[in-house]
Amino acid sequence: MKNLKAIILAAGEGSRMKSKKPKVLHEILNKSMVDYVIETAKGCGAGEVCVVVGHKAEMVKEGIKSEGVSFALQAEQKGTGHAVMMAGDFIDENSDMMILYGDTPLITGETLAKLVEVHREEGHGVTVVSSKVEDPTGYGRIMRNDAGSFQRIVEHKDASETERLVNEINTGIYIFNGKDLKDSLGKLNNNNAQGEYYLTDCLELILNTGKKVEAVVAKDADEFFGVNSRVQLAEAAQIMKNRINRKHMENGVTIVDPANTYIGSDVVIGRDTVILPGCVIEGNTIIGEDCEVGPNSRLTDMKLGDGVTFQTSTGIESEIGNETTVGPFAYIRPNCHIGDKVKVGDFVEVKNSNIGNGTKIPHLAYIGDTDAGEKINFGCGSIMVNYDGKKKHRTVVEDGVFVGCNANLVAPVTVKKGSYIAAGSTITKDVPEEVLAVARARQTVIEGWIEKRK
Ligand code: UD1
Ligand code: CA
Repeated sequence: MKNLKAIILAAGEGSRMKSKKPKVLHEILNKSMVDYVIETAKGCGAGEVCVVVGHKAEMVKEGIKSEGVSFALQAEQKGTGHAVMMAGDFIDENSDMMILYGDTPLITGETLAKLVEVHREEGHGVTVVSSKVEDPTGYGRIMRNDAGSFQRIVEHKDASETERLVNEINTGIYIFNGKDLKDSLGKLNNNNAQGEYYLTDCLELILNTGKKVEAVVAKDADEFFGVNSRVQLAEAAQIMKNRINRKHMENGVTIVDPANTYIGSDVVIGRDTVILPGCVIEGNTIIGEDCEVGPNSRLTDMKLGDGVTFQTSTGIESEIGNETTVGPFAYIRPNCHIGDKVKVGDFVEVKNSNIGNGTKIPHLAYIGDTDAGEKINFGCGSIMVNYDGKKKHRTVVEDGVFVGCNANLVAPVTVKKGSYIAAGSTITKDVPEEVLAVARARQTVIEGWIEKRK
């Protein structure tokens, strides 16, 4: 079978975004538009992807998170045909060449795969995706003859009044035979209203060589929605969000208020998990079965086991074991490994720490740079004093320790197995096994003090 390669056009400025950031880097559910397009291209079988960059090229290159992408530079934006020419040797005569735009993030792999199939089965020189829209203003129009066969594409600015009445538009997505693309690009000129090299003209040029050219009408117009403004960005985000939420619900996840739940496209959620309203779940987050998340939780690159409750809290780049409860109002910062049946309660911050199974941190604590064992009780107000003003140090708390309320453990320090720390202590030296450590002034009672004061 022929190879498939993809060229993604992303050199334009996108001035209507009114942004310092190039348009294609604007994000939907925490992923840039161009990354969606690259992933979709790869997902439908494109072995190699080339992104044509121009406007703020360096920023676009750096902003793309997908791997294994090559770049071509279009220093001056002289039209879509010119942009494709810049891909140069990437255009392979023996491959099929798919052309996509970096600002159409809603396109799906299934649709593209079908397009490739039609293109190959019918032996087209080029296949373009068209769409029937209510308001075709601004788009290129698909011109057909009386028999309904494709003839050419006329850009809005070059179209006559009658041509402008046509409501079948060019979505800008194509599969070309590599050789036909190369040959037709060589014949392009810029004799048109915009003085640009139009990729759309390649279709007529290929048709004129006797090859079959067809426009396939898209079933779901949403997929070809191009984002040009922030309003359209929000519209595209709505569609993406609905699509993702629907997929999870179909897989057995309860989403109580889908309109108010924002789940990234790479998130994995197990069956019978319930997502309460107001959650943002993003990046490579993986949530197990039978969990309850929310309301109003934010999870970024988190891994939750089964049966976890994650109530009204924030978690970043950390792992949480089975049947652990978090929140409300907890803050799990990066690189925490929290075990099974742990309680991380209200107003608890955990950072860069390991917490063993069955340990409880029920309220108002800071656990930073700490290796905590199993079945520890951290009393209210436990603070791991990890910073000496210059450097961070680690605290070790072994299995079964009881840390009394309002205790400070000044790192580096170790509290050995089974010991108790008296409430209000500031511990600066290692504590051996099975002892009570008290590090605070003794209470004194002054008799007659009130009398004297009077
Ligand atoms: C293009 C099509 C039009 C189609 C419409 C669909 C042409 C001539 N016209 O029009 O038929 O209906 O898309 O949205 O192709 N780009 C570059 N370099 C350039 C010019 C554009 O990389 O020199 C990129 C842009 O960044 C963008 C895409 O190509 O991602 C489309 O460019 P745009 O200017 O939006 O094309 P339209 O005029 O809308
Ligand atoms: Ca456009």
